[in-house]
Amino acid sequence: MNRLETLFESPGLQGGDMPKQLQELYGGRLALPDATVYGNFVTSIDGVAAIKSELRSSLGISGGNPGDRLIMGLLRAWADVVLVGAGTLRAHPGGLWTPAQAYPLATESFRRLREQAGLTIAPQFAVLSGSGRLDTREPSLKSATVITTQLGRTRLEGALPKTATIVAAGDETFGPAAAIDILRSQGHGRILTEGGPTVMAGLIKEKVLNELFLTISPVLAGRNGGSTRPGFINGIAFEPHDFIGAILMSVRLYGSHLFLRYELPSSDYKDCRAPLAAGVNKLG
Ligand SMILES: NC(=O)c1ccc[n+]([C@@H]2O[C@H](COP(=O)([O-])OP(=O)(O)OC[C@H]3O[C@@H](n4cnc5c(N)ncnc54)[C@H](OP(=O)(O)O)[C@@H]3O)[C@@H](O)[C@H]2O)c1
Repeated sequence: MNRLETLFESPGLQGGDMPKQLQELYGGRLALPDATVYGNFVTSIDGVAAIKSELRSSLGISGGNPGDRLIMGLLRAWADVVLVGAGTLRAHPGGLWTPAQAYPLATESFRRLREQAGLTIAPQFAVLSGSGRLDTREPSLKSATVITTQLGRTRLEGALPKTATIVAAGDETFGPAAAIDILRSQGHGRILTEGGPTVMAGLIKEKVLNELFLTISPVLAGRNGGSTRPGFINGIAFEPHDFIGAILMSVRLYGSHLFLRYELPSSDYKDCRAPLAAGVNKLG
């Protein structure tokens, strides 16, 4: 593939140690802080992130764009753990959430990146499930951490391979921040979430998401009402005075696909809204 074109990069952005192949393809060096929660999503131009009736609908939305696959691989390569919700696992049967599965052509470079960074051979995989209703034959669950309720644990114990870890984060419900605490207690610093929209809503509501990588795929998907085609946040709606502000850190291009990187200030999401609010006031 050709290299991604860099349209904008925030001057403060740090570059990490990456094998030459990855630097050339990405058009620079990508790094993530040692302790961070970052999300990666793709949407259509009109904001559709999932088509609930379709398996692997995010792949349909991205069109398998090589730039999108490369960034997905890179973000996984930097991760200690990849966290998804049960809905995403169900929609991607057979998925492995490894760097190599995202972009096989850079398998060796991903391995070297992790080795140079002192990371384990592959990121750990973690799933959030309230119900515990998972297909326990999924290959990704073999050595996964499943964060669930007491009911979920009862359902899954004995059904999952012994190499998997089941943690009950609450009796009946729990917030994703509790899941992040559990992953941190396992020693994971860089936590990548690939969704889906329900998990994302929880992470944003609880203000634990630090960065967002968003691919805008050049397609118009449309909606017919209802919630079968959510955006990448589903299950929470902020009032205009509570919108969450974000700071643009990087913009890349591959063909007509756009790759945006945003920072969400972790202390108080509203901090970065000040300029936006001022602009709105000026307009009267
Ligand atoms: N465009 C993209 O980049 C992208 C990325 C990922 C996924 N997707 C798409 O998103 C769709 C799935 O959407 P989704 O919203 O259902 O996915 P999801 O967020 O991955 O999964 C939702 C499920 O996760 C569990 N969960 C979430 N928050 C929880 C909490 N606080 N406590 C306990 N369990 C919790 C629940 O599982 P239980 O039902 O087991 O209780 C819930 O039903 C699929 O079509 C997939 O392809 C798109």
